[in-house]
Formats: sequence, structure tokens, C-alpha cells
Amino acid sequence: MKTEIGCDVTKAKELLEEGKLVAIPTETVYGLAGNALDQKAVLEIFEVKNRPHFDPLIVHTHSLEGIAACVKEIPERALLLLWHFSPGPLTLLLPKKETLSDLVTANSPLVAVRIPSHPLVLQLLKTLPFPLAAPSANPFGYISPTTAQHVFAQLQGKIPYILDGKAAEIGLESTIIGFHDNKTILYRLGGIPVEAIEALIGKVHIQPSTAAPGHLQNHYAPRKPLLLGIKENRDRFERNQVALLSFNSFFEKYPYQAQLAPDGKMRTAAASLFHTMRLLDELPIQAILADFVPEEGLGLAINDRLFRASFKMGHSV
Ligand code: TXA
Ligand code: MG
Repeated sequence: MKTEIGCDVTKAKELLEEGKLVAIPTETVYGLAGNALDQKAVLEIFEVKNRPHFDPLIVHTHSLEGIAACVKEIPERALLLLWHFSPGPLTLLLPKKETLSDLVTANSPLVAVRIPSHPLVLQLLKTLPFPLAAPSANPFGYISPTTAQHVFAQLQGKIPYILDGKAAEIGLESTIIGFHDNKTILYRLGGIPVEAIEALIGKVHIQPSTAAPGHLQNHYAPRKPLLLGIKENRDRFERNQVALLSFNSFFEKYPYQAQLAPDGKMRTAAASLFHTMRLLDELPIQAILADFVPEEGLGLAINDRLFRASFKMGHSV
């Protein structure tokens, strides 16, 4: 199959209506989208991504009505969050309507729903008579794509069309929030900082290791070993055998190094994290050495991704 890249929303719509898959731009990362109400399309998402069926998909829609069509109820706290942060990098776990396929939710009684803010995908969603199921458009376990070219590099030949919305503005996946026993639970650190959510609805319990399998170890990982702690690990390698990844530090005499935020801004770091990890992964090196970024705002989500990227590495070097 030939994979095309373009900005043609009508073409994307027609393909999706035929039951085909299309990669879509969002403000967080690119998604691999299919008709959420079409079992065959949903099955194909799992196949193309090589994703296990126990890992459920996020349903994307353009409106509160769209969410209401998928869920049994929207609690008040969820409404508050939606009013403030949607469209945007917020995903809510809510009790699903029976009409929605169990395949999408991996048999969970909850469905993950979100309203992305990227203008191109909002335009697309508005023209479609159904919501879109879409995981990040990377092969299972690898780094999420933040450009159309990232998607092309890995899914070329497997999908007919990539809707190109330029580089993702936020560059980290959405923040996933659920509600349990009157508590607000954060299942995945993401594009909305925890502080912003707490300022609105009070205490949030961070519980990233249970329901959301974005939390399987080894997720978001490059192929090269990624070791945490530049100073702690650098003497184990020749200078030209490693790439250094830091917030904005410079290291003398290291030919391969990347600063996530030369301007010192956390948003810049978030937006460049995945792209930079991909670039470093392609270098003729043995390992990537990375430092955590400051623990503030989006820094928590960035450090979470660095930590996950480092997981399998610990064993291999
Ligand atoms: O920013 C994002 O959320 C991107 C863009 C494309 O929207 N999507 C994304 O999807 O990151 P994915 O599939 O790569 O990650 C979604 C996470 C997974 O860890 C999945 O397990 C969790 O959300 N999830 C989805 N539905 C769930 C459910 N019903 N219960 C618990 N976790 C769920
Ligand atoms: Mg993903």
C-alpha cells in the first residue's frame, strides 16, 4: 500500500468513512485513527500498531455532545475539567455506554475520551458522523511520533494516508484522569501539568502504574540503551560512543549532545523531547545518557517519559 502525506481533510474523511485508517495530527502526538464504531477498523488499529488487545484506545471527538454519546454520565468534576482544558491534552476515563465496542476499551467498563485541539483534526472530527479511536501512531513500545515524518518512517506501507499538521505543539501525550471513590486519580502524566488540574479541582492522586498500560515498563523507549544520570554514567564510555541529553547543559568535548530547552523553557523541552530522542537513537553510538529536567510543570511528565525510556536499558548495559 502506498502511504501519502498531505493536508487534505476531505481525503482523510473519505478514507475513514470507508473503514480505512488515517494518521492524524493532534497537539500532543500523532494518532493512528479509525472509526471507533467500526469493529474492523478498530481491529486493524491493533494490528498495524502491533498492540496487544488488552491495551485500550482513546476515543476522540470534537464536542461535549460527542463525549456524552459515548459515556453513561459525566460527573461534575469531569465537566469542570472539560470546560477548562478541552479542547486540549486532557483524557478522561468515564463509564462507557454499552453501544461502544468492548474492543475499544479492552473490556473495561470505562472509556477514555478526549477532545483534541489541533485545528486540522477538529475540522476532520466535525465532518465525521462517528468518533475516532486513536492510539499514538508508533509501533507498540516505541517513542510516540510528533511529526508526520515520524509516522511515515514507521507506518509507511501500512496505512493509506497521513494528515500532516506539522510538528505537535505540546509533544507529550495527554494527561489521563479518572475518578474513583470520590477521588480524582491521574493515570498518566501528560500535556496538562498536575498543578493546573489541582488548582481547579483540588487534590489529585497520582497513580500511574495501574489502569493505563502506557505504563507498561519499556514504553516510550528508543532502541538504544538510555541511561539516567550523565555524570554517573559517562565514564563508562568513550566520548564519541554516547549521546548526551539534558535540559540545557553543555558538556565539553562531547561530539553528540542535545539540549531540550536552550531557552530554558519547559514547553520547549516537552515539544522537542520525542523528536530529539529519535534523532539520538539514529546516531552511531552505544548509548544515550540523559539527565532529568527540573521537576516543575510539564517537567514531571518529561521525567516520567525519560524514566520509562530508560527502563529496559538498565538490563542491557
Ligand atoms: O495524547 C494522547 O492521548 C494521544 C493522542 C493521539 O490522542 N493518544 C495516546 O494514545 O497517547 P495511546 O493509546 O498511545 O495511550 C493511551 C493510554 C494507554 O496507556 C491506554 O492504556 C490508556 O490510555 N487507556 C485508554 N483507554 C483506557 C481505559 N478504558 N481504561 C484505562 N486506560 C485506558
Ligand atoms: Mg502510546
